[in-house]
Parts: sequence; C-alpha cells; structure tokens
Amino acid sequence: MRGYLLAGNWKMNGSNAADSELLDRIIAGAPQSESVELLVCPPFPYLSDVAARLADTGIALGAQNVSQHGSGAFTGETAPSMLADVGCKYVIVGHSERRAIMGESSETVAAKFKAVQRAGLVPVLCIGETKEQREADRTEAVVDEQLAAVLDEVGISAFANAVVAYEPVWAIGTGLTATPEQAQDVHRHIREVLAAGDQAIADGVKILYGGSVKGDNAAGLFSNPDIDGGLIGGASLKPADFLAIAAAAAALH
Ligand code: 13P
Repeated sequence: MRGYLLAGNWKMNGSNAADSELLDRIIAGAPQSESVELLVCPPFPYLSDVAARLADTGIALGAQNVSQHGSGAFTGETAPSMLADVGCKYVIVGHSERRAIMGESSETVAAKFKAVQRAGLVPVLCIGETKEQREADRTEAVVDEQLAAVLDEVGISAFANAVVAYEPVWAIGTGLTATPEQAQDVHRHIREVLAAGDQAIADGVKILYGGSVKGDNAAGLFSNPDIDGGLIGGASLKPADFLAIAAAAAALH
C-alpha cells in the first residue's frame, strides 16, 4: 500500500516563536501510524531549527523551493545539497505560486526536479490548472503538459522516488475545494499518464491533493483510491486543523 503523506506547506509564514508553538502541538498530537507520514515545509531561515526540533519524531522536513544549480554565483539561491545538509527529505518544486508569481516555466521546474533527486532528496512536483483552464475544459491538457516537461527531462523511472501534488489553482487559499470526484478524476488521469510509462511505478507513486484541504473535507478526499494525502497550506499553520487532517488519513488505514 502507498500509505498517506500529509505535507504542510507553511509558505511565507511563521517566526521562531510561532514555529516552536506549532511544532510542539503537532509533535504531541501526531498519529502513530506506520502508513501516515507527516511533513512540514517551513521557509528557508527556519529549516535548521525545525530540523533540530523534529529529530527523532518521525516527522519529515521539506523545503518549498530550490535552485536547479549545484553551487556557485547564484546570489540568493539555495542548492539542493544544502537542503540535504540541513536535514530535508523532500523539496516542493513547481508550486503554482512560483509558476505564476516568479514566472517558473515547466522546463525550469523539470530542471529543479532533476537537481533535487541528484542531491538524494524527494521532489514533490506540483501541477494543476487555473480556473480559466478548467472552464475551457483544458484540465487534463494542462497537467499533461506539466508532467510531460518533467518526464522528458528525467524519464518515468525518476517517479519511483517522487511525489506528485495535484493542486488546482482555483482551490488554493480560496476556501473552494475540488469535490472528491473532481479530484479523483484528475488523480486517476495523472496515474494513467504515469502508467503509460511504467505500471509499477505509477502504482507506487503518491499523488497528493492540494487546495483548501481542511479537517472536515479530508476524509472525503482521502477515501478515493488515487488520493494519497494532501499538500496543505492554510490549515497546516493551525495545529488542530493539521492534526484533524492527519487523523482523517490515519482513520482510513
Ligand atoms: P491552501 O491549503 O491554503 O489552499 O493551500 C494549498 C497549497 O497551495 C499547498 O501548497
């Protein structure tokens, strides 16, 4: 079984004091289930401190972004090896906020995906359509293009060690959630695209849903066969909400 991954994307939020309180509560309330993994992705300045706090808790650490370059004259950037060095296991690549606000192309995202794996880390590849694209019936075409850019760069075998997050842009931070049926349809499609390359790899890859996941909609989403957890923004900053989402996943196993 694939198990569940519940990933908190803290985005550009927090402080030493707030992180410490949040982590104390998450650590105290984390479900003890072998099939549920928790992951937190704080902003860069806090990675080392959060890594220290997470030691021996079983909760994984991830980063929200990374450079596609290995080292050198890239002012303000962070290399994948540095993220490995401070204790990250996962790195989010291609979040829609980076695609839309920072202008990251699918090719750049693919280069980051490759660089993350080269450093021994697991990429969490975000894909998903905007409201306009969904209304134009282009959802599958959009996720196909976003996936193809990565598959062209690294091949299907790289997905043996990767996570995919389907995040419909219209559901992010809006309180609008894809219905479980809408999400499952796209997740099934993503798995089929991967299965065309390798069935076993497609069967093993975790596909997370992201977009206004909350305690009260998590079970409905996660009970679908192709939804293997969540990439959670707003609710990951509220310990009771994040733990309710984790508990919903644990109860399904
Ligand atoms: P929200 O959960 O706040 O909608 O954010 C989703 C997201 O973008 C996670 O990466």
